[in-house]
Formats: sequence, structure tokens, C-alpha cells
Amino acid sequence: MGGDTLTHNNFDFRGFDVPELKAVTLAASDSDDRGADALNGDADKTKGKGSGKKSNGKAGGAAARSGKTEKKGKNVAKESDKGKKNKVGLFTPMGLRDVTVRNRIWLPPMCTYSAFARDGKPTPFHYQHYVSRAFGGFGMIIAEATAVAPEGRISPCDLGLWEDAQIDAWRWIVDGIRNAGAVAAVQLNHAGRKASTGCFPVGYEGRACPRKRALAYRAPSPIEFGNLNKPRELSVDEIHGIVGAFAAAAGRAVAAGFQAIEIHAAHGYLISEFLDPLCNERTDEYGGGLEGRARFLLEVVDAVRATVPESMPILVRVSATDWAAGGWDLDQTIVVSRMLKEHGVDLVDVSTGGIIPGVSIPVKDNYQVPFSEQVRAKAGVPTTAVGLITKPKQANKILTRGQADAVEIGRAALRDPYWPLRAANKLGVPVTEAPYQPQYIRGAF
Ligand SMILES: Cc1cc2nc3c(=O)[nH]c(=O)nc-3n(C[C@H](O)[C@H](O)[C@H](O)COP(=O)(O)O)c2cc1C
Repeated sequence: MGGDTLTHNNFDFRGFDVPELKAVTLAASDSDDRGADALNGDADKTKGKGSGKKSNGKAGGAAARSGKTEKKGKNVAKESDKGKKNKVGLFTPMGLRDVTVRNRIWLPPMCTYSAFARDGKPTPFHYQHYVSRAFGGFGMIIAEATAVAPEGRISPCDLGLWEDAQIDAWRWIVDGIRNAGAVAAVQLNHAGRKASTGCFPVGYEGRACPRKRALAYRAPSPIEFGNLNKPRELSVDEIHGIVGAFAAAAGRAVAAGFQAIEIHAAHGYLISEFLDPLCNERTDEYGGGLEGRARFLLEVVDAVRATVPESMPILVRVSATDWAAGGWDLDQTIVVSRMLKEHGVDLVDVSTGGIIPGVSIPVKDNYQVPFSEQVRAKAGVPTTAVGLITKPKQANKILTRGQADAVEIGRAALRDPYWPLRAANKLGVPVTEAPYQPQYIRGAF
């Protein structure tokens, strides 16, 4: 890299997913002597280390390979039988407007708080983080909460799209994700009353940064979150300004090459603060009944929709409940999801919580899936389910039961970037149909 900044302009993507290259590699892995020799050489090396599990020497390497090919062949048959039942599963592609997602295993947005220069620009860390998960076979990669304004950052090390100077730093990451065959999306956020907390690189994790270093806290009403600082009520002009900031950030996301936008309306950040009656006590047009509390979200959606191409999908992440009595709940989520659909939103990403501190959440496997199922059925909008979905069969069942249109694998993907490839193996999807990069086919599960 030398002293140059690594950008889209000086980065070489040759060797990323190229369909013809993949076909050649697959053919070679079945018949090519060169491939067998290379494999045997590797097998000898692993044997020397005492771990030649799949091979017992020169002939063994080839035998292991042909055994594997046969096994995959059986899987092809099994899979095509399944196909006859016409059921949507993890590896069924999905269309959203003009975008085709190769499968229904998506990476949810997860903050990494790693823009260490505090300029909102992604770095080689983010490249490695996101592109390795695209190599791992995820269908859509939703980049973490990305601030639409510097004062809307959760922490000083959040990523941003609040100024044009950030576009190039994103572009090579977006290109990397896309060249690896995944769809690149970004979650746009304003953290509202939960802004300006610390994070691991700067300390004060989960707590307010000391006031002199903190940027202004803003919210629909002056009600603080737990022990964070009391926010100032936003004026109507400021609200309009933030709507514009979402639209401008979406425009920058398009310029960086993103193929989908997710608006963060969950987890107690600014948009969900407007939605929730427990943190919105406004008496103007942005408060009161559901129509007023949803106004800010819908204005953001309309502004983003008007900015991005018609062909580009918009996703909205919601908290389907705040788990608090008298607060935001599933019924309101369903009503708002219907509104979102009417305003051109293509998918609702259904999470819960994060809005009200100190509530009890019944966290267990699939605990948020019923919310996705209800939103999907009652609002008639595609959804994703997220939250403690960790096993391939568990994830697949959510889709075959019609509880969601895609699943998101969060923490499990932090420990295993290759989760989708492993899932393909577990579910009997042949290597030829699994989202391998050509270079990795010889090491297929
Ligand atoms: C480290 C970390 C960072 C997260 N950051 C975000 C974020 O930026 N935006 C968001 O909507 N959710 C965020 N979440 C929530 C995840 O997207 C996901 O909903 C949650 O982890 C539950 O899914 P899981 O059980 O598969 O991990 C984060 C979660 C983790 C663990």
C-alpha cells in the first residue's frame, strides 16, 4: 500500500468471483491431473503434520476427492427432489426490485466501531471484515450503522456517509463485496439520544463520552436513556435537516456503489425514538398519535426513495416491540409496516428492543422470529428474521415455514465468516451450487 490511500481507483479485483473461472475450477477439480497432483502434494504436507484426515497418500488424495464428488452427486439428486416441492430455502435466490440476491442468508448490520481516525471513513479492517463474509457466501452484506451526520454517531469511531470525502473510502469495499458475488447494502443511522457514547478504542464503552468531548445529544423530547445525558428537543427545522441528511447520505451510498439502503428505525436510535410513545412527548405534527410519531420515519423514507434509483431496494429495520408496558408494540409495528410498503419500502428487517432501558427480554433461539412472521403475514411485506438464529436447519425452517423471506446471522457470523458455506454442506447443497469463490472449491466442506 505504501503511503497511498487504498481506494477503488488503485485496487485490483482480478481473481474475485468470475463465473467462467468458477466453471473452469469445478471442471478441473473433477478431472485435471494437475489438480490431483497439487492436491496430493498438499495432502502429503498435511499428513506430515499428522492431520491427513481426508487423504492417505498420493492415491488417497484422488480417492478422497472422487468420494467427495460422488457424495456431492447424491446431494444434487436430493436437492433437485427438494426443488420439486418448490419450497423456498436458504439458497433460493431472492429478487428485490432490480437486485437479485444469491441466497437468503444475510449479514445484519453490526457496528465494529473501527473508524479509528474518527473521520467516519472505513479502513482496511472494514474491507477485510466485509469482503471475507462475502467470500463466505452471504447473500446480502448490510454494512453496520453508518451515521448520516457526525453528531448522529453512536460513538466517535462509527462509520459515516455525511460528507462526499467519505465516498471513495467505501467504494473499494463495496466493489469487493459485489465482486465476491454478494449484494452490498448499508444501514443509515442517526443515534439521537443514544449518540456520543464511548466504544472500545476510546473507552467509556456503553456510557456517555465526557461532555466536553461529546457532540450534542438530540431527540424528539428531552428524555434521557438510562444514565446517558439528557438530550435537547429537536426543532422542526432540525428535523427537516436530518431528513435531508438521510437523503444526502443515501445519495453518497449510491455513488459508492451500494445496491440497497437500510434505514435504521430500531434499537432506540433517533427514528425509533420518534415512533415510541415512551420517548416522544411532542405536541406538534411529529408527536401524538401513531400518524404523528411515524411522520419522521415516513419523511426519511420518502426522501431516500426520491434520491436513490427506482430500481434500488430500500429496507427498514424496526424494533417490533420495546418490551415495555405502554410503549411501542407489534400492533403499531404492523400498521407502520403497511405504511412503509405504501411508501416504497421493499423489506422490513424485524428486530426488537433497545429503545427503553432496563426491560426484560426473553432471549432464546428464534425469539424474534414470531414478530417477523406477524409483520410478514399482516402487513403483506417481505421480512427478514434475526436474533439467535445459529444453525442451518433452524434457519432453513424459518423460511420453509414462511416466517421470513431471509434470515440474518449476526454473532454466529462474527465467529464464522463461512457460515453459509458450512450451511450448504449441512443441508446437502452441492458444491456446484454453493456460493464458493473459485479459489476455495478445492477446499470445499
Ligand atoms: C457487535 C454487534 C454490533 C451490532 N450493531 C448493530 C448495528 O450497527 N445496527 C443494528 O441494527 N443492529 C446491530 N446489532 C444487532 C445485530 O444486527 C443483530 O440484530 C443481533 O446481534 C441479533 O442477531 P444474532 O443473535 O444473530 O447476533 C449489533 C449486534 C452486535 C453483536
